[in-house]
Amino acid sequence: MCGIVGFIGKDNGVEFLIDGLNSLEYRGYDSCGIAGIVDEKTKVIKTVGRIKNLEELTSEDLVFNIGIGHTRWATHGGVNKTNSHPHQSFNERFTLVHNGVIENFSELKEEFLSDKKMISETDTEVVVQLIEVFAREGLSTKEAFLKTISKLHGSYALCLIDREDADTLYVAKNKSPLLIGLGQNCNYVGSDALAMIKYTNKFLEINDGELVTVKADSVLIEDKNGVKIERSPFTPNIKYGEIDKGVYEHYMIKEINEQAFAMRNIISEYFDGHDVKMDQEIIDAVKEADRLYVIGCGTSYNAGQMSKEYFEKWAGIPTELHLASEFAYNLPLLSKKPMFIFLSQSGETADLRAVLTKLREVNPTYKVLVLTNVDASTLSRESDYTLLLHAGVEIAVASTKAYTSQIAVLSILAYQVAKELGKAPNLDLEKELSVVTTAIESILDDTKEIKELTDKLFTERNAFYIGRGADYYSSCEAALKLKEVSYIQTEGFAGGELKHGTIALIEDNIPVVALITKSEFDLSTRSNVSEVASRGAKTLVITLEKLAKEGDYAIPNVHETLAPIVSIVVTQLFAYYAALGRGLDVDKPRNLAKSVTVE
Ligand code: F6R
Repeated sequence: MCGIVGFIGKDNGVEFLIDGLNSLEYRGYDSCGIAGIVDEKTKVIKTVGRIKNLEELTSEDLVFNIGIGHTRWATHGGVNKTNSHPHQSFNERFTLVHNGVIENFSELKEEFLSDKKMISETDTEVVVQLIEVFAREGLSTKEAFLKTISKLHGSYALCLIDREDADTLYVAKNKSPLLIGLGQNCNYVGSDALAMIKYTNKFLEINDGELVTVKADSVLIEDKNGVKIERSPFTPNIKYGEIDKGVYEHYMIKEINEQAFAMRNIISEYFDGHDVKMDQEIIDAVKEADRLYVIGCGTSYNAGQMSKEYFEKWAGIPTELHLASEFAYNLPLLSKKPMFIFLSQSGETADLRAVLTKLREVNPTYKVLVLTNVDASTLSRESDYTLLLHAGVEIAVASTKAYTSQIAVLSILAYQVAKELGKAPNLDLEKELSVVTTAIESILDDTKEIKELTDKLFTERNAFYIGRGADYYSSCEAALKLKEVSYIQTEGFAGGELKHGTIALIEDNIPVVALITKSEFDLSTRSNVSEVASRGAKTLVITLEKLAKEGDYAIPNVHETLAPIVSIVVTQLFAYYAALGRGLDVDKPRNLAKSVTVE
């Protein structure tokens, strides 16, 4: 993970470096730092903790016409000032920020630096020390940088400055995301476009293996043989204002509230009247597949589980769910004509990129579709097809609106595929998604009861969500949300499965929340609720109005196949209020980062 920024220009870049790091804080937030060249010396300012601590250390008269910055999510070495970036070479000539993991850093240390005592415990330091080693052999900075990169195994986005050349930023990447932002009389470097959008809306992509030399008035992209590459800039589909918290106290509650808006966006992007408006090539690719492999991590994986409801039940296409981190290393037996659907809010997740690499090795003709919220993200660029979620920028580490948007977009794709296969599901999806939108709004209109229920229910260290079928999938997501922001250990369980072992954990006051959005599971799940209630659990049923009994939390009636998009909103609010009640940092839970760019 980690986020990096760089600046070079005629004006002062300190404000950009701090702003950029603030926007990238979602990528990691245990320590941070900036460095710049002033009067032929490199000034480095680092601190443990958040960017606001760094801001306090930067005086108003600090001027960097060239600078780099970093916000860290520790992978190698503990969280302390020494291990935080930027890292410097022994003679302090070279200063570097890095996002990623250098897998062979121990071997490189052994081969080139065995007589040296390293300053930090990080893999990054080895990179900057190697640059110094090669520069001492007489190579130019660019040559030393290139030679170093050629020896690295693993993932990296690197931005280097050289005290002896205050006119150049040296930039390269492999697997980790990185973009160049084009300014006027200046240029920027950032892990994503959000970090730079306040300053520019023109960006240049960098591909793995390229070397980029950035000056105040030029950007030179070369391949590893020094051949110049011409590339046109692009403008992503984001605006600066979108990344404000607006009237909300936290991004998480803002994004929970934006779900109705996201549904409306999806309807208008993917429907034309009642007809689906979607790239025919994508629909054909899915139609032709004999099996779908839906792959994701965390919340995106949980959203993917719901795709079985749509692709198998509506379109009759066998659908398998896989965790990306397992799939890449433990390839399942693939069918004759597989089609792969990746789900990734960020479009940057390293575990999914590893799956893509693996699939390209196994068979380069395999087709990969990615559902992502981020236009021009790495996965979107590298896969064959993209469907955008149109949920708007998601900043809170806990994903909410991307989850419901993923389910909605999956349902539209499956619906159209089913229709074209002559298996038209018996619903008007555009209309039913509008009903879902209104239902979400009505829950969000009055959250007082949900807040009160949170305070009553989640008083213990443990909790359970249970459900059957699609409600089981929702239970997994509800549990992930609650545990990641409130730190209450929560499990999502198939209702019928508790009695096969886990019911042993039920004791007085343990909360068990049952999700029932399908009439066919009403009786069976309620009997699971009775089983735990009779063993002391505090229980609550979240169900559709038409199935509700006294004491349940009732959500408005919507089409049963789409109801999980609505019921999950209640559980997202439980997670939010539970974290708030415990005084926790809701938007940035401990040990996590929004975009997981390490495997
Ligand atoms: C949980 C959460 C994570 C992500 C996971 C995948 O709230 O956000 O579990 O869903 O890290 O990230 P993406 O979807 O960006 O690939």
